[in-house]
Amino acid sequence: MVGSPPDEREVPLNLYRHGAALPVRVRENRRLTVAGNPNDVHHIVLEFPEGQFSYLEGQSVGIAPPGLNARGRPNVPRLYSIASDRLGDDGLGNTLTLTVKRVVYKNDAGVEVRGLASNVLCDAQPGDVLPMSGPAGREFVLPEEEASNYLMFATGTGVAPFRAFAQRHAKWPTETRGKMWLFFGVRAQDDALYADQWPMWSHNDDFRVTWALSREQQTPDGRRMYVQDRMRESGRELLKFLGRGRTHVYICGIKGMEVGISEAFAAIAKEAGLNWTDVHEMLWQTGRWHQEVY
Ligand SMILES: Cc1cc2nc3c(=O)[nH]c(=O)nc-3n(C[C@H](O)[C@H](O)[C@H](O)COP(=O)(O)OP(=O)(O)OC[C@H]3O[C@@H](n4cnc5c(N)ncnc54)[C@H](O)[C@@H]3O)c2cc1C
Ligand SMILES: NC(=O)c1ccc[n+]([C@@H]2O[C@H](COP(=O)([O-])OP(=O)(O)OC[C@H]3O[C@@H](n4cnc5c(N)ncnc54)[C@H](OP(=O)(O)O)[C@@H]3O)[C@@H](O)[C@H]2O)c1
Repeated sequence: MVGSPPDEREVPLNLYRHGAALPVRVRENRRLTVAGNPNDVHHIVLEFPEGQFSYLEGQSVGIAPPGLNARGRPNVPRLYSIASDRLGDDGLGNTLTLTVKRVVYKNDAGVEVRGLASNVLCDAQPGDVLPMSGPAGREFVLPEEEASNYLMFATGTGVAPFRAFAQRHAKWPTETRGKMWLFFGVRAQDDALYADQWPMWSHNDDFRVTWALSREQQTPDGRRMYVQDRMRESGRELLKFLGRGRTHVYICGIKGMEVGISEAFAAIAKEAGLNWTDVHEMLWQTGRWHQEVY
């Protein structure tokens, strides 16, 4: 099976469940953000036994931290979006990549709390074995519609599935493939995940990224720059993009970002004399509005 893609008409789902997880080996774990940046994000490549797992772009996998929860039950898996296309970063079909942020915060009593699964993943060493369930998710899967266009909105590690989309898109024929446009919000240049990789997946500007650096850039009225502010700046172009035949909209990242994005779309549509509610409804009804926010 290695080297050949899964059947494109079928979406593999829950091949492995919690309690009967697939042991996967950590092949690589490297930090994406520079040392000293409190935003500690890792690029983690997991290897699975030949032919025993498959997935599509837009799916997630579950990683359960070891140990028991407060009720004495085994810890449940946490979901992580897959950041590589179906063949993995090396194209051989037996790996997948995750983009994981280490969760560390102070609770109300001022005590430092470390998220269980994210810390296991970020601390994992090459050769370590982890239990993996999945793949999960059908709604966010990238359709194999090469001529379609894709508008993508990400905040932070919410960009993971869009790395998989970009990798896959770059393999479609350059003459016929549609365009992808990613709006990507992070705090600062130092948090700009995969900044060096996005240009690799673009041909004649058919994959482009518009950045919103919330702590380094400001809106004209002095607020933090978010993806929805960048959308408003590109209003006319964005509407044109949305109107180019079949366009899908994907949103992934911080819960609440979908509100700002819908508001920006509504304002842009209104300026052009369009009713956003109708357009939005049409996108939902035709399966072209996809959001995964957490
Ligand atoms: C579909 C999906 C895909 C996801 N993909 C990714 C991904 O690609 N990359 C990624 O890094 N994460 C992703 N996540 C989030 C991931 O599943 C975990 O929730 C996250 O890593 C935390 O898990 P943990 O076990 O480390 O923390 P836990 O041990 O579960 O602890 C987290 C707890 O701490 C709380 N908490 C977290 N931060 C704070 C804070 N600052 N202040 C107060 N409380 C806080 C949370 O509410 C939660 O109750 C995804 C989630 C979903 C639903
Ligand atoms: N598939 C999924 O569901 C999935 C996948 C991966 C990650 N996630 C989740 O995505 C989130 C990303 O976390 P992170 O720590 O990487 O991000 P982060 O660094 O906290 O935030 C990323 C950027 O989003 C901005 N932002 C905050 N609120 C926003 C809003 N309402 N609208 C638009 N932009 C907003 C932040 O700005 P400021 O901080 O400057 O305000 C920052 O610039 C986490 O909750 C993670 O669990 C979900």
